[in-house]
Amino acid sequence: MTGQIKSLDEYHSEYARSVADPEGFWAEQASSFEWRKPWKQVLKWNFREPKVNWFGGGRLNITENCLDRHLATRGKQTALIWEPNDPKRKARKITYKQLYGLVCQFANALKAQGVKKGDRVCIYMPMTPELSVALLACARIGAIHSVVFAGFSAVSLADRIKDAKASVVLTSDYNSRGPKNIPVKQVVDEALALGCDSVRHVIVHQNTGDPLQMVEGRDIWWHEAVKGKRKSCKATAVDSEDMLFILYTSGSTGKPKGVVHTHGGYMVYTEYTFRNVFQYQDGEVYWCTADIGWITGHSYIVYGPLLAGATSVMFEGIPTFPDPGRFWAVIQRHKVNIFYTAPTAIRALMAAGDQWVKGRRMPSLRVLGTVGEPINEEAWQWYHERVGKKRCPIVDTWWQTETGGIMITPLAGITPLKPCFATLPMPGIQPCLVDANGHEIEGNDVEGMLCIKYPWPSILRTTYGDHERCRQTYFATFKDKYFTGDGARRDADGYYRIIGRVDDVINVSGHRIGTAEVEDAINKAPRVVESAVVGYPHDIKGQGIYAYIITSGPIADMAAFKKEVLDTVTKEIGAIAKPDKIQVVPGLPKTRSGKIMRRILRKIAEGDTSNLGDTTTLLNPEVVDEIKQGAKSA
Ligand code: WT7
Repeated sequence: MTGQIKSLDEYHSEYARSVADPEGFWAEQASSFEWRKPWKQVLKWNFREPKVNWFGGGRLNITENCLDRHLATRGKQTALIWEPNDPKRKARKITYKQLYGLVCQFANALKAQGVKKGDRVCIYMPMTPELSVALLACARIGAIHSVVFAGFSAVSLADRIKDAKASVVLTSDYNSRGPKNIPVKQVVDEALALGCDSVRHVIVHQNTGDPLQMVEGRDIWWHEAVKGKRKSCKATAVDSEDMLFILYTSGSTGKPKGVVHTHGGYMVYTEYTFRNVFQYQDGEVYWCTADIGWITGHSYIVYGPLLAGATSVMFEGIPTFPDPGRFWAVIQRHKVNIFYTAPTAIRALMAAGDQWVKGRRMPSLRVLGTVGEPINEEAWQWYHERVGKKRCPIVDTWWQTETGGIMITPLAGITPLKPCFATLPMPGIQPCLVDANGHEIEGNDVEGMLCIKYPWPSILRTTYGDHERCRQTYFATFKDKYFTGDGARRDADGYYRIIGRVDDVINVSGHRIGTAEVEDAINKAPRVVESAVVGYPHDIKGQGIYAYIITSGPIADMAAFKKEVLDTVTKEIGAIAKPDKIQVVPGLPKTRSGKIMRRILRKIAEGDTSNLGDTTTLLNPEVVDEIKQGAKSA
């Protein structure tokens, strides 16, 4: 691998070079990988269509760089340490050689089921090593994986299967999460009953071994599928710009869209960022607590760490099982050096009390990381003092599903920290702040909407099946810029602080939820006429979901009605999208053109009704007072 940035001076010079000569800079990074055929052109792009091509004409397979390349030097090194949900069970260690064998064997099984290059494979699995194997096996044969977080409902899963026209679904029998045993395969059955005509086969991994129903001719056990298959499988060479995966994410309008990443650029960028942000040293143990169902897991549990030849921990369970000391116990047990988690987990463990972390020395810890949402000062300080014992730098990494990898972040131990600041852009990343008129705001000590001016290797290429939606969502708001949807501040030192979404997206426990999506779900509940959903500050989740609902008549049993709404949202989307507060209202504040004034609803949800701004232009100003009154009982 190319070297690591080792000092702040080096960071600044590498950054300057990446801006002055982006193609030279990224070509140098890319040349440390194995390519079947070198690229012809480093970069070709425009943000108008948009069209971005990195390492065009190059041929490769990302799994050869994750696995084969390491076999000679690290075959016996542990690639994966799997920590099961049940702390009494033994951890499972998988070496690079073994992982190679498992991936090849399953790749052969997929081929035997007729999966070919370019086919979409939907993966709906809990956090077991087979989940990583599933992603890599798809990539090995050039199939496109579409992982759906195993907490989504059957309806959500069906939507995603249909959108991607997946031919195969990979799943597990059950998901062991804390005290629960969740019937995952049953959700797949329910989804397929909703008319997913493209699906030919379901491959079921036996995780807990509890009994379940198999569908004759359609369902195959994982262990049967791999029986007799060889543990080697020549990787399919693909073009740099061939699709590696689709990952669905929520936006401000409509249904979730399938963000598309491609082989070459994604490989180069996830490895570069993993190695530099965490300053990973050979032999260290790294642990990212995310679920592979989200981008953090794709880039920083599966691809980034394996590309860099790291040893990484994968955890099946939840932070509070069997008690809120679990994370610290796992860190001690596996001597974790680098720990990467989300602010919501930090706040939840902080709220559980200091006694869980107090006696834990955790001398192995060297670097702490956070991701997914803005971290508040109190949580930052607690993480720094109680977990890191004031010795460990915290890398507050800002990025998105669409960016593929970490964009604005400190480099561990190199960038001087400021609590709650994501600090400085990675080399190759050219952020800017833009005002409401689309003008770039120059200078420091300013605030605006965060955009990126120049492509980086792992920028999204399209939204699956609907390129126009990609253009509209990310490239049409501001000319020639990628728009992130976030607001940010650049302070006097040029450091970035992410404020939060400026669109109708709520960030609940680090998960992105579109207000429109939740409204659509709520509107399916009995007696709901119309609804409006906004975010509000929540002590643990960062943001909570507040739903205002107009009903078709008076509600006699309010508790029963609210339960019906929650059940409907759980069925349509999943438990993560359940509103925290529900208020039945006589009307919604609307402009004369019929648009809901969300600004007012947000203020009321925040509990700040002192200054609601000008409401005289509303079609129905009288409704505002009634909503204010009713808010107390939400
Ligand atoms: C949105 C992206 C990328 C990993 C997981 C979330 C928010 C992400 C930070 C951070 C403040 C953050 C932004 C962003 N976000 N990281 N360090 N500080 N906000 O991925 O679901 O695509 O959500 O998460 O609002 O736009 P995602």
